[in-house]
Amino acid sequence: MDTIRLDESQIAQAAAILRAGGLLGIPTETVYGLGASGLDSEAVGRIFQAKGRPQDNPLILHIPSADWLEKYCKGIPPAAYALAERFWPGPLTMVLRRAEMVPDVVTAGLDTVGMRCPAHSLCRAVIAAAGVPVAAPSGNTSGRPSPTTAEEMLQDMDGKIDAILDGGPCAVGVESTIVDLTGETPRLLRPGGITLEQLESVLGHVTVDAAVTEQLKEGERPRAPGMKYRHYAPKAPVTVVTGEPAQSAAYIAAHACAGDGVLCFDEYAHLFPGCTVERLGSAERPEEQARHVFGALRRFDGTAVSAIWAQCPHSEGMGLAVANRLNKAAGFHIIYAGEGEA
Ligand code: TXA
Ligand code: MG
Repeated sequence: MDTIRLDESQIAQAAAILRAGGLLGIPTETVYGLGASGLDSEAVGRIFQAKGRPQDNPLILHIPSADWLEKYCKGIPPAAYALAERFWPGPLTMVLRRAEMVPDVVTAGLDTVGMRCPAHSLCRAVIAAAGVPVAAPSGNTSGRPSPTTAEEMLQDMDGKIDAILDGGPCAVGVESTIVDLTGETPRLLRPGGITLEQLESVLGHVTVDAAVTEQLKEGERPRAPGMKYRHYAPKAPVTVVTGEPAQSAAYIAAHACAGDGVLCFDEYAHLFPGCTVERLGSAERPEEQARHVFGALRRFDGTAVSAIWAQCPHSEGMGLAVANRLNKAAGFHIIYAGEGEA
């Protein structure tokens, strides 16, 4: 199939593709998504094929405004409305009890569904024009880093989807925060564009699921099924180095071999002559690191590096999401350099 490239003047055409059961690359403020009508089981099935995604990994439903929640969810707690009021449209997904009309293929048979109202204007325009909730995982081949530009998505999906709507580079760069509101206390399943601190400012205490910061043990079942798969990984193995930025940089400078890849904060980029260096952004600015992390991981695949070293931010604010993506890319192969808090 030829994948058509659409721009902002072609929203109606993009919406028609969704309504006809096609697959559409969709820009969001987090990463590009691989969208299909969330009410069309066959179309949703084709998402899994195009990505090579395991069938037991559920999809998020994207809606253009919070008042669509009641159509697809039941038993919605007050906390969901409080979060929607504060952070929607925006990079937050809430796990809620599903209504019966949500197809099983979307939720992988779970009795819950992830709901998100994205902040990208083209994304909301196309969903509203299609008049259906859009099921969309990130637009990468399963296991690869998520795409943050239309070009990156086409590297994985050219010829596998009907069209892609080009909405420019994604503003956030890592996926949405996922919070599960179906239990006794709210639980953070995936850190993302809305920080833990922001969630707690509305909800009070939020439990951080163990899968956010640790490798799952053999046979353990994660609450977000997707957390069990190797993820975001470039072809070369990644070693994450934590600690104060100056110390993690010194550690990598001492241990990297000529020809290795290094993913570092801008301030230390000069310390690795002979290595293939990708910059994450300033050590002081995790938002900037979030925008760069996936593109940098992808670019290593176009090089001959056989090992990659990555500096890792502290876990405050957006640092938690950046650290989570790096740790997953490294299969939780993490080294702590130096003194102070890791
Ligand atoms: O920012 C984002 O959320 C992007 C853009 C395209 O919106 N989407 C995205 O989707 O990251 P995906 O499928 O790549 O990641 C969704 C994650 C998976 O780990 C999945 O297992 C989890 O959400 N998930 C989906 N529905 C769930 C549910 N009902 N309960 C628990 N986890 C769920
Ligand atoms: Mg994904």
